Amino acid sequence: MIFRQLFEPASSTYTYLLACPETGAAVLIDPVAEMLERDLRVVAELGLRLAYTLETHVHADHITGATGLREATGCQTAGPAMDEIPCRDVGLREGEPLRVGSVEIYPLFTPGHTDCHHSYLVDTGTHKMVFTGDGLLIDGCGRTDFQSGDATTLYRSIHDKLFTLPDDTLIYPGHDYSGRRVSTIGQEKARNPRLGGGKGEAEFVAIMTGLHLAYPQKIDVAVPGNLRCGSPAPATTGE
Ligand SMILES: [Fe+2]
Repeated sequence: MIFRQLFEPASSTYTYLLACPETGAAVLIDPVAEMLERDLRVVAELGLRLAYTLETHVHADHITGATGLREATGCQTAGPAMDEIPCRDVGLREGEPLRVGSVEIYPLFTPGHTDCHHSYLVDTGTHKMVFTGDGLLIDGCGRTDFQSGDATTLYRSIHDKLFTLPDDTLIYPGHDYSGRRVSTIGQEKARNPRLGGGKGEAEFVAIMTGLHLAYPQKIDVAVPGNLRCGSPAPATTGE
């Protein structure tokens, strides 16, 4: 499998390029609108054809590059079916893999950061990789205090689903604010300060409740923008 981890510094977002070496079909997980030119350049440099964009969830901190990439390449836009976003071309469900050439992407329903959030599992044949969006982060997790988030639900998603993957499964998060790029299920199970080392559900909920995070700067623009798949807002007449 062809693989690139790309970074957008303003929102510390990772975008992941996965592609089939035989057919050249590629997918971009969680692309960012401002990085359209970079994403197109990487796809072209690698001699690939973008087949899909793929969202883990409706983001509150950046606008997706899905529509821009679809207009530029003719790709299809994909994401969780339960988001029920009309502008999206393909809705995914757990148990129904998305095939991109020889690459098979398995959706895992991992709510808690948002109620429709999904992670994506890929088995390259030599190792497993899970793209955890804003569910499980390295030494952390996505916030649960807005946008249908729920700490108990996130705890269950991580413990019952992600932590049951093999320990050597590589974790690729949707964000990292300290330059960390990859972890493993075994490492987060042992060391994640919020969720690892046998931390219980009540302890996790208390940690999340006590965070008192600031209101996200871009949420009022980003969420409606992402519900339009990143298309610009319709012009208002002022009437
Ligand atoms: Fe998010």
